[in-house]
Amino acid sequence: AEIMILNGPNLNLLGKRQPEIYGRETLADVEAACAALARDAGHAVRLHQSNREYEIIDWIHEARERAAAIVINPAAFTHTSVAILDALNAYEGLVFEVHISNVHKREAFRHHSFVSARADGVIAGFGVEGYSLAVRRVCSLLAG
Ligand code: DQA
Repeated sequence: AEIMILNGPNLNLLGKRQPEIYGRETLADVEAACAALARDAGHAVRLHQSNREYEIIDWIHEARERAAAIVINPAAFTHTSVAILDALNAYEGLVFEVHISNVHKREAFRHHSFVSARADGVIAGFGVEGYSLAVRRVCSLLAG
């Protein structure tokens, strides 16, 4: 099956952006690690990133037809986007929410997530390993 990994605004700068918070690994590194894990379990990943909310919504709509699971780091849209929550509510597969940093240890405005109301699980503060952990969980759930 396909696992769609979605990334919100500013994550194109992962590896360069505030490395003391987000680390030095890039989204390409994340994709390679997740693709290897998925491949071992007979699945495939498709990773997207956008700074535009509508593109993320369109990918979630696309996932309705093609993906068994969505792993999403909505970045700042986590804390603002009812539209992404609504799109995820119209999706029937597995949803895991990932945050590289521990959002609960940071500013109060990062403590609330609109997406968590739909997520089957949430990972925060495990660095980019959080993506791999989420993919691992998806693979074990898909295996039944
Ligand atoms: C983030 C946390 C968000 O609060 C922030 O806006 C991001 C990244 C994380 O991965 O830790 O851009 O989702």
